[in-house]
Amino acid sequence: MIFLVEGKLYPEQNREHVLHLLSRCEDFLALPSPVQVILGVTSGRSTSSTTLASLIQNDPVIASGIIAIANSPYYGFSKKIHRISHAVSLLGFEEIRNLVLSMAVVQLFDHRGFGSPDRIWRHSCAVGVATRMVAGFFKVKIESKFFLAGLLHDIGKVFLSQYLPDKYTEMLAILEREGGGITYHVLEEAFFGISHAQIGKMLMEFWNFPEGVVHAVQCHHAPSNAVTDAFLASCVHIADLICTVRGISPLGDRYFLAMDKKVVPLLTGLKENFCTEDLFSLLGQLDLEIDRQSGFVSAFRR
Ligand SMILES: [Fe+2]
Ligand SMILES: [Fe+2]
Repeated sequence: MIFLVEGKLYPEQNREHVLHLLSRCEDFLALPSPVQVILGVTSGRSTSSTTLASLIQNDPVIASGIIAIANSPYYGFSKKIHRISHAVSLLGFEEIRNLVLSMAVVQLFDHRGFGSPDRIWRHSCAVGVATRMVAGFFKVKIESKFFLAGLLHDIGKVFLSQYLPDKYTEMLAILEREGGGITYHVLEEAFFGISHAQIGKMLMEFWNFPEGVVHAVQCHHAPSNAVTDAFLASCVHIADLICTVRGISPLGDRYFLAMDKKVVPLLTGLKENFCTEDLFSLLGQLDLEIDRQSGFVSAFRR
């Protein structure tokens, strides 16, 4: 198969290169062993909260992150939490597992980003916060998955920019030269033969994220395609949209994002007549919410 960009033929080579790197990600994207031990313990049914708490305590970075998260307005617990054991009993094994896993994944990547420094991570954190805000708007139970799916939705872009920097820069240069003649997403798929959403899905599976989060990352541009938890994918989709409209985009101003219209029927069951006004209302709350959740976000950016 060949791909045509700017009248130039891109061979299957780019796609093969990406797939080859993904097949070797065990070598450079494996989680550190203390994290793997904690993850192993949280998935076993026979482990006690005390054992989990003491394992977390052994890792000061994870421990302080969990305490910061437990005390943040994300969960809105009324009393201050000082002890890991208290955080474990309040949050539960599954939440702890997801939080530890995500903190560890974020640390695997260089945070200098691409385009302008730090831009992709600023976008990712904002989408994480906004995804939680959108879920709150629909009055569902708030869990860590909302922030995590938003935080990691563009992990495929981070991967491309960090592990294929020359090719990624070449692609961005074409986008710049085209001046609006081609969208980022069309170009990305033509140039690499695979989308960042698909790459994101493969990475999330590699790290063993819950199925709903994997599908939210895979389908964040087309949430109605999510086989599991289409609501989560829809929240990420809307969050991505409002952050981009607000100017917190992963790339420059040339970045355009279209709303998947099929998302509306998915959400009307939760709120009658979900419409553009609701999107504006969410947009209006975004800056305040990013401020409010800064303590929670900083636990992921150590
Ligand atoms: Fe994306
Ligand atoms: Fe995004």
